[in-house]
Amino acid sequence: MIACNSAFPSHLTALEAHHEDQPIGVFDSGVGGLSVLRAIRRELPLENLLYAADSGNAPYGDRDADFIRSRAMWMTRFLLAQGAKTIIVACNTATVVAVSELRSWCPVPVVAMEPAIKPASQMTKSGIVGVLATSQTLSSASVARLCGAHGDGVKFLLQACPGLVEKVERAELTSEATRALLVGYLSPLLAAGADTLVLGCTHYPFLIPLIQEIAGPQVLIIDPAVAVAREVARRLVPNRISVSRKSPATTRFFSSSPLDEAQAAMSALWGEQVTVHAIGPTDLHPADEP
Ligand code: DGL
Repeated sequence: MIACNSAFPSHLTALEAHHEDQPIGVFDSGVGGLSVLRAIRRELPLENLLYAADSGNAPYGDRDADFIRSRAMWMTRFLLAQGAKTIIVACNTATVVAVSELRSWCPVPVVAMEPAIKPASQMTKSGIVGVLATSQTLSSASVARLCGAHGDGVKFLLQACPGLVEKVERAELTSEATRALLVGYLSPLLAAGADTLVLGCTHYPFLIPLIQEIAGPQVLIIDPAVAVAREVARRLVPNRISVSRKSPATTRFFSSSPLDEAQAAMSALWGEQVTVHAIGPTDLHPADEP
């Protein structure tokens, strides 16, 4: 059992569980990480999963780094308090801001996102790749490093997409307003000759049908979720915390936003009716180090 943070309400005490049966904990600034959870569920059908959406504080993309770091710590401690045996940071923005600090103290393996800039550089034929993400992610050192490392003969066009996270938070995947935002963001990339688009924000894969419709069938869209799910599977085995039982797996959902809103959005994106539990006060920022 992993120590429970006393800051959490009493109904959120840590799970007593056999190690392998403990859940994989996944968090995001909101509902976008469900695109990663979906891939993990496919890759690891026997694992118990926990998903925590910080929708009450989304979007992270326009927040300052201290706020994002503080929320990433809080969400991680929440998942640990639920008994998570590994943490998946299903948020590019939280990854670029907070993953090093998280890894410095988190007692279980931490798997995080990386925009698929390397595979895109190998797949593009026109040599022009569009990278869609939040402004925090695009201005990060890790994106600069990836573009530098894989930029031989390839031009990366970095496109921030303010407003899109909010649309996905409301499961507004096909509205005229969502389409208008996407047309605005994609048009310059397509006009410049981009034939490959990297989705560097976990909310955006829910917009793939609309993106593909706007960009056309010849444009390749890369969602890193499957690669992340494979990495999760790869990490569980050497740590001997992969499941060997055959009983049905559970998937539990938590959110920091009002539960009726969370339930509607998460059910729409997950593709079936889900029950969402509260994660507690959203203004609880841990001042102390874990
Ligand atoms: N899903 C988050 C990401 O991958 C969205 C960030 C935000 O809330 O702005 O970056």
